[in-house]
Amino acid sequence: MPTDASAGVVEMLRLFTNPGDRVVINPPVYSPFFDWLQEARTELQSVPLGDRQLDLPALDRAFATKPAAYVLCNPHNPVGRVHTYEELAAVVERATRHGVPVISDEIHAPLALPGATYTPFLTVPGAGQIGVSVVSPSKAFNLAASSAPPSSPRRRGCGTWWPSCLVTSAGAAGTSPSSPRSPPTTRATIGWTGCWPPSTTAARC
Ligand SMILES: Cc1ncc(COP(=O)(O)O)c(C=O)c1O
Repeated sequence: MPTDASAGVVEMLRLFTNPGDRVVINPPVYSPFFDWLQEARTELQSVPLGDRQLDLPALDRAFATKPAAYVLCNPHNPVGRVHTYEELAAVVERATRHGVPVISDEIHAPLALPGATYTPFLTVPGAGQIGVSVVSPSKAFNLAASSAPPSSPRRRGCGTWWPSCLVTSAGAAGTSPSSPRSPPTTRATIGWTGCWPPSTTAARC
């Protein structure tokens, strides 16, 4: 349970990769993705979007080169693409076939517009065996500052800060051939509101 989505992705990169490993992302993408790869001491393997959507044949070719991980942006920032169930199923199939762990950044999930159907990555059969999702209320509910204790004025009664991110896995472990490590094996749950630690009641904040 990291403090924010960025930390969640970086910690998952640290879990799945070793320094110098290649990680696939899909530019144009939220620019800190590039920084997160650097922070985890990994190398960029770029598979640009094609026509503002996932280029599945290119992803397949990239996965065949055995990158250590793939960071998916679902929905995709900045093009606003809400990946379809079929596209995500294709990602799961390819990632599973090549043994590439998927880290799905789903911070924009609550902001999918009417008419678009957001598919949580982990609802795709097999996704939990190959990946994790990083979810957070910080974007949709404007809580980004809640994870910045040194700069946030503490409210009376609040213990420390509010965690604003959750890394979740469907439960089963999968292992990348290029990585000695496996995805987390437990499903985590947390309420989003209130102070942290939870013994401090929301009413006091
Ligand atoms: C795709 C994506 N991931 C992560 C973040 C940053 O999230 P956090 O502030 O929780 O680190 C943003 C912020 O705009 C974003 O667009």
